[in-house]
Amino acid sequence: MEQQSRTLRLSADRAEEIQTAGNLLKSGGLVAIPTETVYGLAANALDGRAVAAIFAAKGRPMDNPLIVHISQLDQWAALVSEIPPRAMELANRFWPGPLTIILPKSPLIPDEVSAGQATVAVRFPSHPVARAVIDAAGVPLAAPSANLSGSPSPTEAQHVLADLDGRIDAVLDGGPCRVGVESTVVTLAQEVPRLLRPGGITPEQLSQVLGRVEVDPAVMNPLAAGEKVLSPGMKYKHYSPKANVILVKGNLSAYLEYVNSRAEEGVFALCYDGEQEALRVPAVAYGAKQDAAGQARHLFDALRKLDQMGAKVVYARSPQPKGVGLAVYNRLIRAAGFEVVELG
Ligand code: TXA
Ligand code: MG
Repeated sequence: MEQQSRTLRLSADRAEEIQTAGNLLKSGGLVAIPTETVYGLAANALDGRAVAAIFAAKGRPMDNPLIVHISQLDQWAALVSEIPPRAMELANRFWPGPLTIILPKSPLIPDEVSAGQATVAVRFPSHPVARAVIDAAGVPLAAPSANLSGSPSPTEAQHVLADLDGRIDAVLDGGPCRVGVESTVVTLAQEVPRLLRPGGITPEQLSQVLGRVEVDPAVMNPLAAGEKVLSPGMKYKHYSPKANVILVKGNLSAYLEYVNSRAEEGVFALCYDGEQEALRVPAVAYGAKQDAAGQARHLFDALRKLDQMGAKVVYARSPQPKGVGLAVYNRLIRAAGFEVVELG
């Protein structure tokens, strides 16, 4: 049967539409919701069938586990086998906010959520609309980013519709996301805490609470063929626009010379604010050079824009992998499939 667009457009400005989203979720539906990081594609986390539908709608590999979202700290205990003191310290410091904590799971977690792992990832978002929807649904919500698997994560309701219109029950529009990249993921299911995905909470901030934190090698480097990973999401091609993205490392004048000497049809640049004028190819800026938070907020939208403009090859200015910039670098190097040019 031909699939008609049946995705409801809801507005977070109206309390009754937040309730509609909650009701859809309660009855096993799929609703894309705003969070402070990116839009999430939510379903009742305790309903294996509803969760399975998330994988189908996104085209997500079944072995990639989901994050469970809560709206009150006391909802956490039922989802995990226990909450060790260091986990509670992290939560007290950074929740609600863009941090996901992995612990051994409780029997309440359906296999569809944990995707074969003995652990579960939990996040308490700070976005008031995300929390209101969880309250309205009355259950914790499993939610990956609300994009088709592999494409850039959505930071606006429009991005969600571009990927998932007709494939999900509703999208709740709460405006653009403040952080713009997905949450920091840390696992406490092993002796030394390990950063699996960098995000809005930096490794330095985590260390202030946890002491030593290992950074998973997959954060910065490509995986060797057949290598085992702690975070299955790391092994898939990610965040990639249709264009071939190439990360260019070097100073501004080397970058300009490199890109300008390659100017031809289909060649585009992804640069910092104010650099477009000096480029002889069409360019999209993703933030100011010194403003990692601004880069994080705009990166995914910039990648989608480049596709809309018809880019075939994109030479991207490489961000500084420090603080929040580590998250920006991590996403961009995946968008580039680890293709890097080092100048000078
Ligand atoms: O900011 C965010 O975290 C957004 C919003 C919607 O909350 N969600 C999000 O979900 O980014 P997703 O599914 O796109 O990314 C979840 C990441 C994946 O890399 C996945 O492999 C990892 O977290 N993950 C989830 N559960 C895990 C587990 N039990 N063990 C290891 N990695 C896990
Ligand atoms: Mg994702």
